[in-house]
Amino acid sequence: MFTDTHCHIYQEYYEDISLIINNASSLGVNRFINNGCDYKSNLEVLDLINKYPNMYGAIGIHPENVDTYTQSDLNHLEANLTNPKVIAIGEIGLDYHYTKDNKDAQIKLFETQLSLAEKYHLPVIVHNRDATLDTIETLKKYKVTGVIHSFSGSLETAQIYLKMGFYLGINGVITFKNANLKDIIKNLPLNKLLLETDSPYLTPEPYRGTQNNPEHIIDIANFVANLFNITLEELSKITNENITHLFDI
Ligand code: NI
Repeated sequence: MFTDTHCHIYQEYYEDISLIINNASSLGVNRFINNGCDYKSNLEVLDLINKYPNMYGAIGIHPENVDTYTQSDLNHLEANLTNPKVIAIGEIGLDYHYTKDNKDAQIKLFETQLSLAEKYHLPVIVHNRDATLDTIETLKKYKVTGVIHSFSGSLETAQIYLKMGFYLGINGVITFKNANLKDIIKNLPLNKLLLETDSPYLTPEPYRGTQNNPEHIIDIANFVANLFNITLEELSKITNENITHLFDI
């Protein structure tokens, strides 16, 4: 049994969410951590975790929404952090890919949510794109743990995150043919890795070009099990233990 530790299962992307959940479950992906990005998706995550016993929620304001979020969105976020099925604050972080012009505002939003993570003793699910140094510096100011979602950095960067107590989220990017990520990941301890799809994005090989969904955790798991030369059962056991250490599931 596997868990998709990072997906975005919203009506906006999936016509029939029950079907997606049932298909994945029948293939052995039986738990889902659904990540919100803004007020609207946080609201939907809260609704879905209420509906599906095997779905858990992470709610947060994604850096791409830094120019549009409001204080009332943050109030709504905080008001729902004591929901027992909200197990993390995410997806939050820094993204300088398209612009760095709003980086101060991004850091402020990230810090506000890291403070909430400290206050409510929740782990964080961190998005970092082209902002590694600021991500590390910002995280270091808070007593928080969590996962670096969609990790794709260097071995040196990985080791800094591990030393800070963070786990690394591995998804379909590791299967991409031109990626040297696998050579970095195979040098890392398995007890620090989490499997995720980031559905509907980052579909693994050989399905690139189609919409991703949580059942592809099995394809990512097969790839990682081969890379570490262990069985799927062993990988399932280790990654589920990692989840138990990090999240209150
Ligand atoms: Ni994501």
